[in-house]
Amino acid sequence: MMLGTTQSSSQIVDTLRDDEIQALLQFSSAPAFGQPRSFYTTHPYQRPSRPQDIDPAQLATPLASDGLASPEHLLAQRLLLNIYEQDLVFLPKPPQRLDMKAFKGFYDPANMALGKQVRPLLEHYTYGWLKNEVHINGPWCEESFIAHTDKVLEDVGQGPSRLHEVLTGSRDPQRAARFFLIQCAGDFLSEASAMARNVLGNAGPHTSELFKILIDEYGYGIDKKKHSSIFETLLDQAGLSSQVHHYWQFYTASSLSLTNYFHYVSANHGEFFRYIGAMYYTEASLALTTGHQSRALKDIFGDSVSTEYFDEHQHIDVHHGRMALERLIIPLIRQYGPQVIPDLIRGFEEFRLLQDLADEELYAHIKWHDELDACRARASMLHGSKPADARFTEPLGEVSVLHCHANTELFWVESGELDFVVSPQLALKLGAGEGVIIPKGMLHGTHVTSPSCTYTVTAL
Ligand SMILES: [Fe+2]
Ligand SMILES: [Fe+2]
Ligand SMILES: [Fe+2]
Repeated sequence: MMLGTTQSSSQIVDTLRDDEIQALLQFSSAPAFGQPRSFYTTHPYQRPSRPQDIDPAQLATPLASDGLASPEHLLAQRLLLNIYEQDLVFLPKPPQRLDMKAFKGFYDPANMALGKQVRPLLEHYTYGWLKNEVHINGPWCEESFIAHTDKVLEDVGQGPSRLHEVLTGSRDPQRAARFFLIQCAGDFLSEASAMARNVLGNAGPHTSELFKILIDEYGYGIDKKKHSSIFETLLDQAGLSSQVHHYWQFYTASSLSLTNYFHYVSANHGEFFRYIGAMYYTEASLALTTGHQSRALKDIFGDSVSTEYFDEHQHIDVHHGRMALERLIIPLIRQYGPQVIPDLIRGFEEFRLLQDLADEELYAHIKWHDELDACRARASMLHGSKPADARFTEPLGEVSVLHCHANTELFWVESGELDFVVSPQLALKLGAGEGVIIPKGMLHGTHVTSPSCTYTVTAL
């Protein structure tokens, strides 16, 4: 592990080495991750990550499970996805033209080397807590593995769909559905890329079995059957951009953590069995949940949006789940013995937990969007009850990249005017003497629309 450990009188405090701190600061200062002029990107090489927020002292101590709503978690997840995706090929979609300078800049070998250097510490920071939360004790064998995972999947398949309920029950179901699709886009537009990391090398017949699932995901070389292409069509029909990472700033930390988890256990091949366990959970559970997702979109958008993406998964992931269990997991256990089961079960359980957390974070955002007017009214009531913690003055056009706070905050405009943005479909215009309450962990950004704007923030 690249983290050092120093003992203080009362607690263990991790520290980063100077070379790690330098690598982290240098990596994140790349133009690709810097300050943008807009909330939206026009090519896949621009990934605003608020490098000014990096605090090496914070990143030295791994997150705890109650720290996932923090800005540091969001920052670490954004940096990690940048690191992982420098291994993938991205080209912009027409009508966007290829910006050669941005393209070469994103894949700059020196910057990639810095990313590789800091990757283990970011992985430890973002996923280290899983070891404390996911307990996999017990003597495992093939039978108990199957009995346990069957029971979990049976439970997933039962009961009403919370997603359907939240999306259709929103004050603005289309806005809520679009926010859901945006959370999916970070992963689905390059679907199964992490899986592809596992089909190189030679793992005997297991490589070939995994390859069969991979080529399904990639449409057997037919572009319009590739799952990411089917998802592009869905985004277009729902009135959203299908350009990779157009909505980069709008991904929640827990949405990013799903994509990154698969890269984490796939880029580190010592975690291959964890990857297989997580892949089994996602394939088998998608076969059960995509039916609800399809129904939600149909109920919300009617016939204007094709649900083919979710319908295809409802069908094919029944096979993928079965292939993962029967063609990969059982043969792997029989060949390599029960020693591989703890990692299989760990991956299965960890991804299940991360998926549940991402769902909860999505629902919390949709609830906040629905309550934004009430948060605005509450800000007027609370303004003046405490002295402000900080005051900022920004010029016309200044964009504050979407971020979140570790505490609930009162945001208050003293002079000038800005757009306070929480989703591509929802923004408040705030002028002097107006504000809003920002609950802990909720994504928001601002764009100054007057010659200058002064606002204050107060932790509540
Ligand atoms: Fe797929
Ligand atoms: Fe699949
Ligand atoms: Fe903020």
